[in-house]
Amino acid sequence: MREPPILDAQSIRADFPILQRRVGDKPLIYFDNAATTHKPRQVLRTIETFYTTYNANVHRSPHTLGLEATELYEQAHENVARFIGAADAREIVFVRNSTEAINLVAYSLLSGENERLRLQEGDQVVVTVMEHHSDLVPWQRVCAQAGATLKVIDIRDDGTLDMEQLSAALTERTRLVCCAHGSNVLGTINPVQEIGRLAHQAGALFLVDGAQSVPHMPVDVKQIGCDFLAFSGHKMLAPMDIGVLYGKRELLQEMSPFLYGGEMVADVTLTGATWKEPPWKFEAGTANVCGGIALGGATDLRTGQHLEGAVDYLERISMAQVRAHERALTRHALQGLRDMERVRVYGPLDADRRGGILAFAVEGSDAHLVAHLLNDEGIAVRAGGLCAYPLADRLGVAGTVRASFYIYNTEDEVDRFLEVLEDIVRCRLL
Ligand SMILES: Cc1ncc(COP(=O)(O)O)c(C=O)c1O
Repeated sequence: MREPPILDAQSIRADFPILQRRVGDKPLIYFDNAATTHKPRQVLRTIETFYTTYNANVHRSPHTLGLEATELYEQAHENVARFIGAADAREIVFVRNSTEAINLVAYSLLSGENERLRLQEGDQVVVTVMEHHSDLVPWQRVCAQAGATLKVIDIRDDGTLDMEQLSAALTERTRLVCCAHGSNVLGTINPVQEIGRLAHQAGALFLVDGAQSVPHMPVDVKQIGCDFLAFSGHKMLAPMDIGVLYGKRELLQEMSPFLYGGEMVADVTLTGATWKEPPWKFEAGTANVCGGIALGGATDLRTGQHLEGAVDYLERISMAQVRAHERALTRHALQGLRDMERVRVYGPLDADRRGGILAFAVEGSDAHLVAHLLNDEGIAVRAGGLCAYPLADRLGVAGTVRASFYIYNTEDEVDRFLEVLEDIVRCRLL
């Protein structure tokens, strides 16, 4: 049975010019939102306004454009802080993406000047088998270099994290626990509040990879109690090449920078340098100023109007509505996929326990072939190891097909996808 619409996806769609595109002679059905999302007119307008009115480098040039660009960029930090419930804009570091945010923490812990925040030989870092490569490979590298152990927590058969194993793995040598809030393969939403409580009880820090949660549900860093949160703007309506590392202020204050160079320094002599306060000591070199403003939004200083950023757009809908919409689409799609012969869906089968990501395999068929056949009908999905090869190994599958939803997707699109997939499975993959 159809659930009543929760948000008005049709009027949202009108804000996304790309959704008018056709693929061949078919209307585009874009179900690759976990890889990247499209950008609404409001955010595109903000980008245009920045480059037509304010373009300048920040924190250095004393002319009007330089000062105005700086003001907008700092406002964007404040708005992002508000969006995730951070206490302070000084806890928001703009980086390129989630990958860079996690590498920042990893390399800072590897080479930190402050011993309290430096990984030592014999220390332990805990991750889960469902991590994206960007929350696994950096830890493999820095653990190997520091002589620390990397402990990987398994999943249960239903695709949820094995919390008993996690609890038992924590020791007094555990320095850090890293966990995806939402899995990019299983869709599983992990109990980050509880994981954080266990990590802190063991005296460890807690890093949440929010790449697949911050765009899709209300996320409040104070409520979670995490020390770090990483996420990517391009997965939540902002342009590519802008992402965020949230870090508790006292930690960012004590941590060493990851990149060194211009504008992150308080003073430099020929023999050494001192750092600015966070977040600026972590934003070395010329930043993606426009990207930051397109993510966070800011006031147009010349008109007094708001230059809408991605977080403004999402807040206007409300993150609770975003979550409810995706949950309804997921429930509907799950039902259809479960009824299909030869199709196996991975992850929890209860839409309340997962985000809008559905990875599945068609028995006896290559995932890329299924994705190509869907593409022939205008349906964009991802296929393969989904940047989580160890998880694919754990699931015993070479690759999966992944459909992932966002605010502009509709139940009609899910119906069309199910109909096309059914036809592919029955008639074209014999
Ligand atoms: C859970 C998760 N973490 C991290 C990333 C990396 O994001 P980015 O490529 O934007 O750095 C992704 C990307 O798909 C992801 O799904």
